[in-house]
Amino acid sequence: MRPQRQKWFIPLGLLLLPHLLLANIQDASDEMTVISGSNVTLKISNVTHNYKQLAWFYNDNQKIVEQESKGPKYFKSQFKDRVRLGLDHTLFIYNVRKEDSSTYILKVLKESGKEISQYISLKVLDPVPEPVIKIEKIQEESNRCHLKLSCEIEGLSASWYGDSRPFPKEIHSNVLEITVNPQNYSKSYTCQVSNAVSSKNDTVYFTLPCTLARSTGVAWIATWLAVMAPIVPGLLWP
Ligand SMILES: *[C@@H]1O[C@H](CO)[C@@H](O)[C@H](O)[C@H]1NC(C)=O
Ligand SMILES: *[C@@H]1O[C@H](CO)[C@@H](O)[C@H](O)[C@H]1NC(C)=O
Ligand SMILES: *[C@@H]1O[C@H](CO)[C@@H](O)[C@H](O)[C@H]1NC(C)=O
Ligand SMILES: *[C@@H]1O[C@H](CO)[C@@H](O)[C@H](O)[C@H]1NC(C)=O
Repeated sequence: MRPQRQKWFIPLGLLLLPHLLLANIQDASDEMTVISGSNVTLKISNVTHNYKQLAWFYNDNQKIVEQESKGPKYFKSQFKDRVRLGLDHTLFIYNVRKEDSSTYILKVLKESGKEISQYISLKVLDPVPEPVIKIEKIQEESNRCHLKLSCEIEGLSASWYGDSRPFPKEIHSNVLEITVNPQNYSKSYTCQVSNAVSSKNDTVYFTLPCTLARSTGVAWIATWLAVMAPIVPGLLWP
């Protein structure tokens, strides 16, 4: 699934007041994790004021912008028009993409001729895709119900939750296979998929003795072959 990218443009006036529109601000050293499409401010707090030259790098080889006594000079990079050097030497990146993940370097050349490098890591993640619970198996066995549900999301592991009934804690697996009885069933089974920046879930609803339904009301019952052909002949041949 492709992440949704927000269309954006930067009115010139706003560029002069970037601190008003940017939410993600972080100081040096630790890693910052954000969702793709967001606007990010990379900030290093104690930059010396007496410098000859200052430059932000995407990595050791790619310079993004440099500033001497005059205004900033932007270099050709993957960022094109998506970066701005802000007040206090912050680097604003608009509409971040996964490829923007990197350890950025702020290099400051002091009047003394000494060069100082400071680092800040940015990790950009796409939101997780919408999970969909698949009912692999539902079978009634003498007052008990055997369920096998799957929730496949490429490269991500799922967590399962039941309602307040004595469903075991959280199960970390893409398949939930359980047998329930009237004492320990859960009214709902939820598969949740998360990463550091987003979380989505899907839920199916259980009713005794052995029926599962989506919120839309489509039901799978133990004799589930019966629900596979609910076509009313009258609809096909009116
Ligand atoms: C990012 O900044 C642009 C330009 O100011 C704005 O239009 C857009 O809504 C912002 N996007 C987010 C996700 O905040
Ligand atoms: C900024 O502060 C950090 C931690 O206090 C220090 O290690 C670093 O040398 C300082 N950098 C500058 C340019 O003064
Ligand atoms: C419910 O109880 C039955 C019988 O005691 C047991 O076999 C089953 O594993 C239990 N299921 C859950 C989800 O706890
Ligand atoms: C599932 O997602 C909804 C919002 O989409 C949220 O309100 C709910 O708490 C989530 N459920 C679980 C079990 O994480």
